[in-house]
Amino acid sequence: MRRTKLVGCILAVMAIFVFGCEKQPSGEPPAEPQSKEVNVMSANTEIFGQMPDGTQIDLFTLTNPNGIRARIMTYGATLVSLETPDRDGNLTDIMLGFDTLEGYLTDHPYFGVIVGRYANRIGKGKFTLDGVEYTLATNNGENHLHGGIKGFDKVVWKLEEIKAGGDEAFVALSYVSKDGEEGYPGNLSCRVTYTLTKDDELKISYEAETDKTTIINLTNHAYWNLAGQGTGDILGHELMLNADKYTPVDEGLIPTGEIKAVKDTPMDFTEPMTIGSRIDQVTGGYDHNYVLNSGGGSMALAARVYEPTTGRVLEIQTLQPGIQFYSGNFLDGSITGKSAKVYNKHYGFCLETQHYPDSPNKLDFPSVVLKPGQKYSTETIHKFYTE
Ligand code: BGC
Repeated sequence: MRRTKLVGCILAVMAIFVFGCEKQPSGEPPAEPQSKEVNVMSANTEIFGQMPDGTQIDLFTLTNPNGIRARIMTYGATLVSLETPDRDGNLTDIMLGFDTLEGYLTDHPYFGVIVGRYANRIGKGKFTLDGVEYTLATNNGENHLHGGIKGFDKVVWKLEEIKAGGDEAFVALSYVSKDGEEGYPGNLSCRVTYTLTKDDELKISYEAETDKTTIINLTNHAYWNLAGQGTGDILGHELMLNADKYTPVDEGLIPTGEIKAVKDTPMDFTEPMTIGSRIDQVTGGYDHNYVLNSGGGSMALAARVYEPTTGRVLEIQTLQPGIQFYSGNFLDGSITGKSAKVYNKHYGFCLETQHYPDSPNKLDFPSVVLKPGQKYSTETIHKFYTE
């Protein structure tokens, strides 16, 4: 009898190791979180917390054989943490954020969230489609920023699928944004999939369909610090951006419409440069959209960041035509994040792959219009290694 039980236990453990875990049908208890010492891809589900109305927020953990661990939750489809090894193999969380759901429910600057329906700014919150003028919620002075007052970062996404096996582990989440939400036209069905691979990549794929002509620009708003979250500023990180041009902005950070060469300016990161080397020459710090040399549409290298003390490298490839480089200028020490770390100015940087800001009002910029029958589909790959 005892032997049968023992064999049963061994088989269960082997099944977890060989096939990973799939989401239990709702009603059944979530799988037990696994230990870090997994030698195959794994995916687990646990409860992260509850919304004020009692809605349960799930937390998913994807782990690969090298110990890279990504945690994602249903609130805001947020990437909550990412642990990667430094050059000595020490695992550290390299994303700013919070230890608990309560932190994410405060007014925070988009730590790790999915931003939509339109990431970045739309001037005066207005745009015209097929002759109809739409007015969006304004939440950044007179402008619309990151989807409005209640963007995709502040809604609860639905689990579609979680799976591990072979060379990857993934979690797919969905959200249906209603016609008129924050002022946008059309019911928009979105799906975001986070995939961790055996090759130390975190892929984020975005898909959407609409029933009325609308605009869309989805991204992830991770704040990175490759030395470890909360350890200091990111001014010593070396950045390379695969972009010869950028979109200059006005005082409200709305593109002027011009596309300007970075050559011979402090905006130039075509060769690796520390973020801090010329930041004083850029009013307010970096908060600009770079025009990627690829032009978008094919998977191409957009950025590479190297942190010299730990050797960590983050490489970003994307199908998108632009990338917002934001040097954490508005972090001011007023937020206490994970492990009681205080986030001071420039303690994290964002590299948001995207369409250019205010594209709905800049007809020369690549189009962000999505029509019924069309499929929005884009992907960004984050690759981690050390040097
Ligand atoms: C924007 C910044 C903004 C930050 C947090 C970035 O994407 O470019 O201007 O302050 O998000 O809201």
